[in-house]
Amino acid sequence: MIKLSPSILSADFANLGRACRQVLDAGADMLHFDVMDGHFVPNISFGVPVLASLHKALPQAFYDVHLMISHPLDYIGAFAKAGATLITFHLESEDDPGAVIDAIHAAGCQAGLSVKPGTPVEEVFPYLDRLELVLVMSVEPGFGGQKFMPQALDKLKVLDRECKARGREIYLEVDGGVDMNTAPLCIGAGANLLVAGSAVFGAEDPARACTLLKSAGQEGGCHA
Ligand code: DX5
Ligand code: ZN
Repeated sequence: MIKLSPSILSADFANLGRACRQVLDAGADMLHFDVMDGHFVPNISFGVPVLASLHKALPQAFYDVHLMISHPLDYIGAFAKAGATLITFHLESEDDPGAVIDAIHAAGCQAGLSVKPGTPVEEVFPYLDRLELVLVMSVEPGFGGQKFMPQALDKLKVLDRECKARGREIYLEVDGGVDMNTAPLCIGAGANLLVAGSAVFGAEDPARACTLLKSAGQEGGCHA
């Protein structure tokens, strides 16, 4: 079953709680929470207090936190306390990946590791057995609404093959430019968790967009 994690980066922040409730009611499995520090990426988004507020309003939701920050280690405890379910950080960040994974688990969360488009996916292999998720970026992190980079498909295939060879069933997540056209390609390449920002919150009917994206793995692509 394909899972969907709508990126709230594209939601209306003045109505964030309502927007999140709507997509969860429509079958979204998680909420993708993009944290940007203006240093690791050239943009600033939102952080711990916003997650804490959302978690207070929607305590049952699965919070899929994507840290696009230079020093994830310094913030694991705070995001875990604010309600993160799973925390993904970048291999290209400045902290030791093994130490960050340990800190995420010690904080009681699931751990994810992400690679930017220019980083070979094989670089996550040394950590694979300790991860609950690998996130393949299909755009340069920093902004919503960018065009899908098809090179991500090869990475997903390599990752899928490696996980199967190791007997590891983890989330293979893809993030950036995922829409009705690219979702079936991602699923065909092995992704089992789709992040979609503008394709959900930019749609006229976000609830219907969720239904369509979740059906993207079925024969013939997205169904009404
Ligand atoms: C980009 C973020 C994404 C972004 C996706 O740096 O990590 O999660 O919100 O947005 P879309 O789906 O519009 O490409
Ligand atoms: Zn993201």
